[in-house]
Amino acid sequence: MYKYRKIIRGVLVALLAVGVTACGTQSSFEESEEENSNIIVVGFSQPGAESSWRVALTDSVKENFTEDRGYRLIYKDARSKQDNQIRDIRTFIQQGVDYIVISPIIETGWDTVLSEAKDAGIPVIICDRNVVVENESLYKAFVGSDFKAEGEYAVSNLEKLFEETEDEDDQVNIVHIQGTIGSSAQIGRTKAIEDAVEEHSNWNIVAQDCGEFTKAKGREIMTQALEEIGADNIDVVYCENDEEAFGAIEAIKEAGASYGNAGGIKVVSFDAMNSALVLCLNGQISVEVECNPLQGPYIYNLISRLEKGNAVPKITYVHEECFTSENLTPDIIEKRRF
Ligand code: AHR
Repeated sequence: MYKYRKIIRGVLVALLAVGVTACGTQSSFEESEEENSNIIVVGFSQPGAESSWRVALTDSVKENFTEDRGYRLIYKDARSKQDNQIRDIRTFIQQGVDYIVISPIIETGWDTVLSEAKDAGIPVIICDRNVVVENESLYKAFVGSDFKAEGEYAVSNLEKLFEETEDEDDQVNIVHIQGTIGSSAQIGRTKAIEDAVEEHSNWNIVAQDCGEFTKAKGREIMTQALEEIGADNIDVVYCENDEEAFGAIEAIKEAGASYGNAGGIKVVSFDAMNSALVLCLNGQISVEVECNPLQGPYIYNLISRLEKGNAVPKITYVHEECFTSENLTPDIIEKRRF
């Protein structure tokens, strides 16, 4: 089937080239046909560029699918809209790419377009966040984060920070800044903190709003929480990514409130980008859960195996860790590639 698609694409490329050579030379036609026949074309659909983390994911995929290695990558950014992302995937199908790689903005709403890709014989790899579809054969494999596990790492570290406050009078008030609602990252991280609040009678979510994984929204939500609730009544800000944490910290500073391990509001964040780890090492961020964007090698490995006709695992979770000022070292930060 892949061969068949390549022949069709070769014909399309040749037809295009004939159009070009009508005003050019015969050799450019021969070169483009030769050049395109063995190359594997991968369409990569990103939901947007809301965070530096996502830029790191894009770079990781681009670095792995290079012409030197026999690949051509077509990259599309859906500008934070699922409709755009569906349109991008349809474009890949029309172009007859060999593989489609999708980082889905939210989990649901993919059945139709993934059926179209399957009918066209194009294998789909889901990366970063997952999809929820009726028929899991609509995609070949998922590679990305276990977001529920990430949330649980954060919660167990929060428990350590507040372990001596099991007293009913010692309330732990949490401002919860969520990511894009309906994304796997939001669903897993939200579930972990909401379950923890159920389990701890003195833990309370005192404000909860969607920060869209952006610094601007994180700042806005924290500013409002500080105005309405007051810094003295906030113990934790649980930010579902580093951008939101950077925004929340700006709001706390602007309000003249204290934060960090030395006293005041404890900041919990996800991603563990280089710049956030610096804040974690110096105690400004108390808990940093890694979300690993270096997924290009994993996706490359899956596609290479599929090209050889080998089976691939349905789910691959990328390696991730959790950091506090206790286990973080300058060396870890220096080696950080994102
Ligand atoms: O899906 C991964 C999340 O999306 C990352 O935590 C965040 O930074 C990104 O925008």
